[in-house]
Amino acid sequence: MNQHIHDHEQWPARLKKTFTGNYRPAPLAFSHGEGAYLYTHDGTRYLDFAAGIAVNSIGHNHPDLTRALSDQARKLLHVSNLFINTPAVELAEMLTERCFADQVYFANSGAEANEAALKMARRYMQAVRGEDRFEFICALKSFHGRTWAAISATGQEKYHQGFAPLVPGFKHVPYNDLDAIRAALSPQTCAILVEPLQGEGGVVEAEKGYLAGLREICDQEGILLIFDEVQTGVGRTGTWFAHQYDGVQPDIMALAKGLGGGVPIGATLCTAEAGQGFVPGVHASTFGGNPLACRAGKTVIEVIERENLVERAKVLGQGLAQRFEQLISEHDMLIGQRGRGLLRGLITPTDYDRSQIVAAARAQGLLITTAGADALRVCPPLIIGEGHLDEAVEKLDKAIRSLD
Ligand SMILES: Cc1ncc(COP(=O)(O)O)c(C=O)c1O
Repeated sequence: MNQHIHDHEQWPARLKKTFTGNYRPAPLAFSHGEGAYLYTHDGTRYLDFAAGIAVNSIGHNHPDLTRALSDQARKLLHVSNLFINTPAVELAEMLTERCFADQVYFANSGAEANEAALKMARRYMQAVRGEDRFEFICALKSFHGRTWAAISATGQEKYHQGFAPLVPGFKHVPYNDLDAIRAALSPQTCAILVEPLQGEGGVVEAEKGYLAGLREICDQEGILLIFDEVQTGVGRTGTWFAHQYDGVQPDIMALAKGLGGGVPIGATLCTAEAGQGFVPGVHASTFGGNPLACRAGKTVIEVIERENLVERAKVLGQGLAQRFEQLISEHDMLIGQRGRGLLRGLITPTDYDRSQIVAAARAQGLLITTAGADALRVCPPLIIGEGHLDEAVEKLDKAIRSLD
């Protein structure tokens, strides 16, 4: 009997024995991926509409990315920030050319990009402007990552439990509520931090005018506006950055996930004004923006541009929304949808166990995730075509029918 099956089945037990208990992975181990598909060790194929939680923006094994990475690995993997790292300078130029920002600080993850954003905002207020401002106003149901400051910024109790005391200076108000923001302002307010579309919170879009309203409040109060675009940035929602949909510019923006196409990278982008507090010695990361990660980021941006993936995310997102309408009309437990571009949520009643749909979809060869209290989240690689949309919706339909 076949070694293959035996090999495949050993992994959950080996993981359980040696990993800390904070992950609960599905019993699936992949050996490789190609485009929008992942393959297990025994050769079973899955359509990947989870994309490593919005990371594999240009799919698996994109020839440009694998070529660039192997070329970079042969040349230079790491030098530290004690020296000039040319791929990082080039990536910073590419990013600043595509948005409001003048400057970039490179990190390794989304949490770190937010951590730097928060530190940058306090430094600006305290060291540059000499003002006693330290408070951040954040949104309920937000998600900003797992470092201490990032969970303190995150507006969900479940991520705080057992970690008290949190970092002081974070207030939380309902999302899409400008009056609540105004009520939370104080002479100590330093910045407002929100996601332009809440991802982990359940794929909840900023209502038209919300981001513009935040900008107006920040300008009136002389405080900073920070957008966390870790999940929404780099083309996913049909514009380079989700805030561009509302024609609004922040002072600081955090990126990660899709930027590296699978290679860990984070970035904190800022205006020259907001970045003034970051002087030598104030903040740093050994790996932050290393040549391999930045070469990945450069290649992802080149591919997105050449293959017109930002516009396609918009068009394919509309195609997905139409197909979802059909699904919603046919299944009682689907009661609506939210999202933009290729970050979409199918909504179920909050008391419905969505994990059974995720498992049933997996049994049909489709990978999706949940988000928030009521959403099934779909965030495929941006390189997909209409055929992949048909395939995903057909598999999802079969999965839901299998539960009846
Ligand atoms: C909006 C947002 N911010 C921050 C993070 C944290 O990113 P990371 O897991 O890379 O630290 C995430 C991850 O899901 C996210 O969606």
